[in-house]
Amino acid sequence: ERGGYPHFMLKEIHEQPKAVRDTLRGRIAEDFSRVQLDELNLDDAFMKAVDRIHIIACGTSWHAGLVGKAVIESYARIPVDVEIASEYRYRRPLFTPNTLVIVISQSGETADTLAALREVKRQGRRVLAITNVVGSSAEREADDVIITWAGPEIAVASTKAYTTQLIALYLLGIKMAHVRGEIGDDKVRELLKGLEDLPQATEQVLDTAPQLERFAQRYVDTMDTFFIGRSLDYSVAMEGALKLKEISYIHAEAYAAGELKHGTLALITEGVPVIALATQPDLYEKTVSNIVEVKARGAFVLGMTWIGNEDLEKTVDEVIYLPKTLPELAPILAVIPLQLLAYYAAVARGNDVDKPRNLAKSVTVE
Ligand code: M6R
Repeated sequence: ERGGYPHFMLKEIHEQPKAVRDTLRGRIAEDFSRVQLDELNLDDAFMKAVDRIHIIACGTSWHAGLVGKAVIESYARIPVDVEIASEYRYRRPLFTPNTLVIVISQSGETADTLAALREVKRQGRRVLAITNVVGSSAEREADDVIITWAGPEIAVASTKAYTTQLIALYLLGIKMAHVRGEIGDDKVRELLKGLEDLPQATEQVLDTAPQLERFAQRYVDTMDTFFIGRSLDYSVAMEGALKLKEISYIHAEAYAAGELKHGTLALITEGVPVIALATQPDLYEKTVSNIVEVKARGAFVLGMTWIGNEDLEKTVDEVIYLPKTLPELAPILAVIPLQLLAYYAAVARGNDVDKPRNLAKSVTVE
């Protein structure tokens, strides 16, 4: 049932090209002229009227929401708040006349996310769910649903659910932006072609596995590590840190690279491993200057950038190269080496990779 893989997590990491392809299937017009999310009841008039979006989720799904915010704000120009469900449900959120609430839940059964969904509905608001499980509570109770076709995810650590949640958010963001006239046909075509290339690119990223397996050996005796990046790279860094904590039990912190010198830089000492994401060309120079800061304190840095940008080798100890894609789409590729790193670190430490201590796949209690 693990298809020849030693753990479900590794199998699910390798299923990402298929999961991404399945989630895109039928949702892009053949001539790349538009997104086809025909399952939505949301009509164009409502999409045009939306004046605020709340994205609510937990854990990895919340991290997907952070990327969703960046995408929706930059394409569709709608302000987005991303909230942790267990926080959102206990405060009194403010709604504008046309707030759209998006809940993201792989399982569709997470207690806090469902409670938030129910409270929002009770207040007469419209809820769109992004979920991987047909027939789940989230799927049944939301007004609109986008299913991610990742297939069953068994390992507690979420991998292919995240990448497919990003696909759903890209499709929705592009659709809303197009309907609202914020992006033109050419940009839509460019983005949709970029999405269409992702299954192939994710396949290519999986080839970095041996490099990550080697690097993960550094974590056998390490207790602390940092993931740094800016903008979208920062959101992906948060997901990388969560993954590492969850299954390798190493303390990991994600930091916005530009914020390091406001305190956290004090923790960087000789030999501390730092993973530095530099996948965004417009912020590349800024990120490099932050990498120089951690290198000056003796950090051992694994950098990540796009193929062809050998410049990074001058600054870091090792580089992971990602296939070139549109910068906005880079999170789907950048997360994969981080999943592999967490996986191999957990294996190296002899942990129960698929069933980490203290955790459940679906958190159905508060
Ligand atoms: O099923 P959900 O997407 O609602 O689950 C949310 C979190 O419990 C989940 O993503 C958790 O953070 C993962 N185990 C992380 O790998």
